[in-house]
Amino acid sequence: MIRLIRPYISFTEVATELEEILDSGILTKGPYSKQLPALAQAYTGASHAFLTTSATTALTMCLKHLEVGPGDEVVLSDFSFPATANVVEDLGAVPVFADVSPDTFNMTAEALESRISSKTKAVIFVDAAGNPSGLERIKAVCNERSIALVEDAACALGSSVGKRKVGTIADFTCFSLHPRKLLTGGEGGIIATNNDDAAKELRLKLSHGADETMDFVTFGYNYRMPEISCLLACKQFEKLDTIIAERQTQMAEYTRLLEPLGFKAQLVEPGHVHNVQSVVFKVPKGVSRPILSAQLKQHSIETTLGTYCLSACSYYREKYNDVQPVAYALQETTICLPCYSGVPVAEICDAIANSLR
Ligand SMILES: Cc1ncc(COP(=O)(O)O)c(C=O)c1O
Repeated sequence: MIRLIRPYISFTEVATELEEILDSGILTKGPYSKQLPALAQAYTGASHAFLTTSATTALTMCLKHLEVGPGDEVVLSDFSFPATANVVEDLGAVPVFADVSPDTFNMTAEALESRISSKTKAVIFVDAAGNPSGLERIKAVCNERSIALVEDAACALGSSVGKRKVGTIADFTCFSLHPRKLLTGGEGGIIATNNDDAAKELRLKLSHGADETMDFVTFGYNYRMPEISCLLACKQFEKLDTIIAERQTQMAEYTRLLEPLGFKAQLVEPGHVHNVQSVVFKVPKGVSRPILSAQLKQHSIETTLGTYCLSACSYYREKYNDVQPVAYALQETTICLPCYSGVPVAEICDAIANSLR
């Protein structure tokens, strides 16, 4: 099977350190648990970075810090993984779905403006497939209105806008270390922020509410990543830029071969760097993505949809009846293609061309 992605880590790369961890008996809060946030901080340029168990818990922590709760609304990109809306729903607030650009797949400033109300407590911008296009326009709207911006950058570690890496632009940026991401710990998440006061509170909340003297000065949580997961992620940080460069080359090759067939690549606006977390194309008019995916599966090629239209998920559709047209069209017409070291791009594109005949 040609898989969608393969983690960029092998046993031999970590064998020595793995043995050391197991021999030491320090399976949590060890040296790699300290090294990983330091690497994330240095890499993104953010003032602070904290580990969590996932992007979902990272987003939840940030929304809790912002005191999002019943009576509040959170405007969010409608083209995303359901976790983006679930974290809002979980806190008793209302997710308000903002439509996205048919080209970049990201929330537009116009859609955001049209969905802001007196109840808006926060905005969640999603870098669809890792693409940060439009992030600064969303930040400008949030600044004007004094609304906090949380970035669901689950897919966007290594992407940047101009000279600024994702992690330094929104008020809070949440990354995922799930195995479909470029850098994985098996599971895991990272919060990056430049806000010193928020960092003080996040540090306490992520440590059961205890300060350095182990005085429990507030209540808190355990969202820690295990030491072995941190080791895996630390090792991949060393080669993250190489991984991204390779994926960008593979994306360019897909584009070269698929655009003549009528496929359209996700637009990355000038001045933005896309980490190519996912290779996503719009299929040509008249082509059914589900049928194409089924045909490729017969050739042992794994594909999936670009991502979900959240407002059209059964739960959200039934509760809010507020489906956003562009996000829905993208859910129906985008395809995510395999990308990893050694992926046979030409073979996959040949299989696609044959399926269209
Ligand atoms: C945009 C987006 N947000 C949130 C998540 C959830 O990430 P995690 O599995 O780390 O909780 C994902 C996972 O794929 C995602 O793509």
